[in-house]
Amino acid sequence: MAYPQHIGPRHTAVVGLQWGDEGKGKVVDLLARRHDVIVRYNGGANAGHTVVVGDQRYALHLIPSGIFYGEKTCVIGNGVVIDPETLVDEIDTLRSRGIEIGENLRISDRAHVVMPYHKARDEALEALLARSRDRTGADRAIGTTKRGIGPAYADKTSRATALRMADLIDPRRLRRRIEAVSPIQSAILAALGAEHIIDTEELLQRFTALGDRLAPHVTDTTYLLHDEIAAGRSLLFEGANASLLDVDHGTYPYVTSSNCSTLGIPAGTGLPLTHVHEVVGIMKAYSTRVGAGPFPTEQDNPIGDRIRDRGREYGTTTGRPRRCGWLDLVAVRYSAMICGVTTLACMLLDVMSGFDEVQLCTHYRLPDGTLTDRFIPDAERLGRVVPVCETLPGWAEETTKIRNRADLPPNARGYLARIEEILGLPIGMISVGPERSQTLTRV
Ligand code: IMP
Repeated sequence: MAYPQHIGPRHTAVVGLQWGDEGKGKVVDLLARRHDVIVRYNGGANAGHTVVVGDQRYALHLIPSGIFYGEKTCVIGNGVVIDPETLVDEIDTLRSRGIEIGENLRISDRAHVVMPYHKARDEALEALLARSRDRTGADRAIGTTKRGIGPAYADKTSRATALRMADLIDPRRLRRRIEAVSPIQSAILAALGAEHIIDTEELLQRFTALGDRLAPHVTDTTYLLHDEIAAGRSLLFEGANASLLDVDHGTYPYVTSSNCSTLGIPAGTGLPLTHVHEVVGIMKAYSTRVGAGPFPTEQDNPIGDRIRDRGREYGTTTGRPRRCGWLDLVAVRYSAMICGVTTLACMLLDVMSGFDEVQLCTHYRLPDGTLTDRFIPDAERLGRVVPVCETLPGWAEETTKIRNRADLPPNARGYLARIEEILGLPIGMISVGPERSQTLTRV
């Protein structure tokens, strides 16, 4: 594979190419070995990255998936929105399981803070939307994770009502900010009909304590990252959520509130565009989606049920059953294009065993009958397309014990080869199970 001319250590991004839950945690964990600094640049505790180390399964929401290697630095960049309660819980849980967390975790002083009133606002807005109907009679709720992500990013862009980590770790600043924003946040909640009452003193007490806990980790991560690069260390960017949920480029308005594609990296870290040399795009061997929004290849039938059962497709963050369907290559090709993907990882191939036939979506048919191979990042228009699929023969054999691509059933190899051909990109990594060892890499 040809890489751009570059002298010095290479920096890599890992990004989801579908609607999330592609298995990024596992890939980041594997790639962390050959990088020094692992960086989150977007999203918040809406993400759920599962990493299996030996017989231990860890679910991470905010801490980068590189945390299992003590000698690596894990950075939560300025583009992330941080729920301090979740983060402190996550630190405590990991520590209680023997994972070292100290100097190796660095948090941007400019990352925004998710407050309890953001979660209450998220919930209240969703409840209001669920009561209103669109043209088709469907409710308008986005189906958020209710982690306060949208309201926290909304406050970030509204500016005067926001709180950043630099405010959280300075008790006097925190008091000034909370006293200033509480009446406004209360008014917003009341207007939405939320029952949440903001008790300023209680909030101050609770969040001062959380600020104390997190203060040793908080720093200017922009300079830190530039210093790391100057010192010759290599960076691994860990995208959270996924490209089709990107607020600018996803299936708007059924998206999350950050730039989850690689386009979010510069703004979410303070590093210029030139610092990403390799982009690993992660896709499942099929498609899933949690929450509302268009999903052209959805199989709301026994095929989807089978994928959900075999793939244990229930949300890491919310436990919700995921919607399941065939692999949509129109969508993946679009995500790979906007993210600048150089190599692909195909996850959960083991789930696809046992189908007589499998399908790959290569085009959409538009309401006027024309065919297109272009994605439509607009929920209303995407909701009207009909997927056009190629049918390939399936394979019965289980693949979880296979360790070489050459040993995969011929039809599984044919499936992967056809995906590579349609996308014009190599699949460098194939996953056939959650464990580190259940990974087939191209040699
Ligand atoms: P929010 O990010 O909680 O506002 O949710 C907005 C939409 O993005 C909902 O459909 C969520 O289910 C979805 N979403 C957000 N984060 C993830 C993720 O990490 N995996 C899958 N879906 C996600």
